[in-house]
Amino acid sequence: MNKKGFIFDLDGVIVDTAKYHFLAWQRLAKSLDIDFTEEENEQLKGVSRVHSLEKILAWGNKTISEAQFTELMGKKNEEYLSYIAEMSSDEILPDVPRVLETLIEKQQPISLGSASKNARIILERVALKKHFDAIVDGNDVSKAKPDPEVFLIAAKLLNIKPKDCIVFEDSVAGVEAANTANMISIGIGNEAVLGDAQYVFKDFTEISDDFINKLINN
Ligand code: BG6
Ligand code: MG
Repeated sequence: MNKKGFIFDLDGVIVDTAKYHFLAWQRLAKSLDIDFTEEENEQLKGVSRVHSLEKILAWGNKTISEAQFTELMGKKNEEYLSYIAEMSSDEILPDVPRVLETLIEKQQPISLGSASKNARIILERVALKKHFDAIVDGNDVSKAKPDPEVFLIAAKLLNIKPKDCIVFEDSVAGVEAANTANMISIGIGNEAVLGDAQYVFKDFTEISDDFINKLINN
């Protein structure tokens, strides 16, 4: 059988954690008298913790000291982790297990490709870690999405050429990273936001076994 590398982003693709990032950043921004909309939040998706805070500060026209910056990043993560601590497998997004299990049955290599430094904890919490042949997350990269580094490392670990890799992403930055890596990009979410992806689906319920077969055999 043909082998392709299937690379999954985590937040907003496998689990419904994008909302927790949003809540935690929004509360932090409010404490600095900065407001940002859900539309602006799209620009934070897929973006590393450091770059997210830089963007929020720029929106609010604020400059802070390095010490304060570090403190705020810690605060945001603390709040985010308090949501994660309550998480269960119920927060796995619809049909993600079906797609992962279909790929495993078809002996396709699977990797995580996430910007999050909390990725491993989350995969363990929702009991999906064992489904992955490789995990690449925010601890493994020196350049954040939209840089393709995270996906290129995943391809290497899976021993699959980038052009034979397929990336599932819910973020603009992640779709750009996949496209730059020369991989097939599949947007999960809103077509109006993820228009640069080669395919866009609302969620995994729209991804049929036929489509998966097509990806494997093309
Ligand atoms: C991405 C999220 O997956 O990870 C971003 O889409 C987040 O919102 C980034 O900022 C970094 O995550 P963490 O868990 O390391 O703060
Ligand atoms: Mg994401």
